[in-house]
Amino acid sequence: MAEQKRSPTSSIGSLVLIAAIVAVLVLAFAYTAGWLTPNRLTPAKIVGSLAPPGGPALGFRRNHAKGICFTGTFDSNGSAAALSKAQLFAAGSYPVTGRFNLATPDPKANDAMARVRGLSLSVTTPDGSTWRSAMITAPFFPVATVDGFYDLQKALADKSNPDAMKNFAAAHPEIGAFGKWAGSAPWTPSYAEDRYNSLNSFVFTNTSGQDQVVRWSFVPAAAPENVTPDQLKARGENFLDADITKRVQSAPQQWTMLVTVANPGDPTADPSKAWPEDRRTVNAGTLVVKQIEAEPDGPCRDINFDPTVLPAGMHVSDDPFPAARSAAYSVSFNRRTAEDKDYPHTPEGAKQ
Ligand code: HEM
Repeated sequence: MAEQKRSPTSSIGSLVLIAAIVAVLVLAFAYTAGWLTPNRLTPAKIVGSLAPPGGPALGFRRNHAKGICFTGTFDSNGSAAALSKAQLFAAGSYPVTGRFNLATPDPKANDAMARVRGLSLSVTTPDGSTWRSAMITAPFFPVATVDGFYDLQKALADKSNPDAMKNFAAAHPEIGAFGKWAGSAPWTPSYAEDRYNSLNSFVFTNTSGQDQVVRWSFVPAAAPENVTPDQLKARGENFLDADITKRVQSAPQQWTMLVTVANPGDPTADPSKAWPEDRRTVNAGTLVVKQIEAEPDGPCRDINFDPTVLPAGMHVSDDPFPAARSAAYSVSFNRRTAEDKDYPHTPEGAKQ
C-alpha cells in the first residue's frame, strides 16, 4: 500500500491544536488551584481557616473533630413518601451509621465549652442509595453566606486586631441573632436530649414529579433536662461520650425526623434565617440509635458526611452551602486520610 504523506501545513495545524489543548488544560488546572485568582475563596482556604493557631489536629476531621460513632436504624413510617420518592421514605427500616459530635476542630475540646453539637447520618436503602446529612443543634446558622463563614473564621483567629469581631459583625449583622441564641439557649447534659437541624434547604421530588423545598430536624424522644454551663463543667471534660454510651446500653435512643415544608417566598438560600414556626411539618419516621461504636477505628472513620450525598427524590436547592460544604469536607477527608499515621488508633489488644 502506498504511504500517505501529510502536508507540512496540516502537521503544523495539528501541533497548534495539540498546543492549544495543552494550554487550555494548564489554564483549567491553574484556575482550579486558584493561581489565576488569588482572592477567590477555595475549599482549601476555607478548610485552612478552621485550623486553630497551633495548626490542625493531624489525622482528624478539620471541624467537628471530637465525636463518637454509632449504628442503628431509620424506621420510616411512610408519611414523607408523599414529598419524596426516595426509598428512605417508603415505610421500612434502613441501616444507619452516624456520629454525635462537637462543632470544634479540637479533638480534645472540653465538652462543657462546645456551644454547638452535631449529628451526622449515613442511611442506606436496598435500592443501593445513600443519604448523608450533617446537622447541628443551633436553630439557624451564624452567617448568611459561605464567604461570611470564611470571614468569621478569620475574625475569630485575628488576635492582633481587637476590633476584628466588631468589624465582622458590622459586615455580617446576622451574627447578632446567633450571639443571642448562644448566650441564652438552654444547655442539655446529653447528646440524647438535643434537637439537630439541617439548616440548609433541599428539594424533595415525589413520584408525580412535584418539587417542594424542605429542611429537616431530628427531635429527641428524651425530655431535655436543662443545666447551667457551671453544672456541665462539674461533669469533667468528656462526659458526653460516657453519657450516650450508658444510655444506649440501657435502651435504644430515639429521635423523630420532622420535615418542614417551605411556603413560597421563604428564604431557602440563607441558613441564617429560620422559617416561621407555623410551616407544615411531616413526621417521616424515627432514628433509633442501637449501638455505640468505637470512634478511632470504627465504622464512621472513613465516612465523609457530605450533605450532597442524596438519593433520587432529594436534591440540593438554591442554598449555596451544601455544595461549598461538599468541597470543604472532601479536602478535610483527603487530608485526614493522608495523615493516617498521626491518628490515634485503638491498640490491637484493646479491640473487642
Ligand atoms: C461553608 C460552611 C461550612 C464549612 C466550610 C464546614 C466545614 C466542615 C468540615 C471541614 C468538616 C469536617 C468534615 C470531615 O472531615 O469529614 C465539617 C464537619 C461537620 N459539619 Fe460543617 N461546615 C460548614 C457548614 C455546616 C453546616 C451549615 C452544618 C449544619 C447545619 C454543618 C455541620 C457539620 C457536622 C455535623 C460535621 C461533622 C460531620 C462528621 O461527623 O464527620 N457544617 N464541617
